[in-house]
Amino acid sequence: MVPDADTPSASLRELLHFYADAGADEVLSEGATDWFAQAETPESSAGASEKAVVAQPERVAAPSSPQRNEPSPALRSMSPARRETGRPQPASIPDGAQVARARELAREARTLDELREQLAAFDGCNLKFTAKNLVFADGNPEADLMFVGEAPGRDEDIEGLPFVGRSGQLLNRMLAAIGRDRQSAYIANVIPWRPPGNRTPTPIETEICRPFIERQIELAAPKVLVTLGNPSTKTLLNTQVGIMRMRGNWQEHRTADGIVIPTMPTLHPAYLLRNPAAKKLAWRDFLEIKARLAD
Ligand code: URA
Repeated sequence: MVPDADTPSASLRELLHFYADAGADEVLSEGATDWFAQAETPESSAGASEKAVVAQPERVAAPSSPQRNEPSPALRSMSPARRETGRPQPASIPDGAQVARARELAREARTLDELREQLAAFDGCNLKFTAKNLVFADGNPEADLMFVGEAPGRDEDIEGLPFVGRSGQLLNRMLAAIGRDRQSAYIANVIPWRPPGNRTPTPIETEICRPFIERQIELAAPKVLVTLGNPSTKTLLNTQVGIMRMRGNWQEHRTADGIVIPTMPTLHPAYLLRNPAAKKLAWRDFLEIKARLAD
């Protein structure tokens, strides 16, 4: 029997639909976590979210040790509070200090593997604590073509790889249209952790993640960079101009080392799925990309 709208189960169903529509489609733990109570009694880990519990840091040599041990990259990536207490900290409100730490860590990475390691150990971005996986990159880091999207969605979070959901399948078809595949392109996102419920990353989350994606581009050093959609275009080209005006026009992404990478902003595959008529614009952009790569 289908309950009518006034029964309690109908209201419950409506409430669940309301949450799902608002993007709250996952629970993180069985019960609510009282972070304030935790901050007062750090010994108690009973209520801690499983997501926030990560590996214990390595020990640093006692001060009396004659040899001064350098902390490992994993230890240096941790927040000072966690380093001091030796315990994972609840997600804290990110601030400018996290941006500075992200910059320092990203600059230290000499290879993409080191960068991934630094990012995996970095706990200065709240998004890490709600994501299932770090989504670092897919494809071939040696490729001459690199794509950067905004942030992983649900499928990407589950698989730990960028652009594997519906948008990714469309991206694969767009690549095939210019004679490429995921082995001849390198794919990443500005934000490497899925924002809960696919919400838009906040400006401070973007600023905290920016040094890592900028270093990732620098280390991959593609011949051509493609920014997919508004957020990655605005972040990587430091512009406030919207994607509809930016797309199709060659731009320059300048790395911290001063290397200039020709960059083509284009429409995000998710936008193209919602607006198939715009595919002809993306097709033009992809032909430009193909011609530039053939130069
Ligand atoms: N959208 C993005 O911007 N990135 C992904 O990885 C998937 C969808």
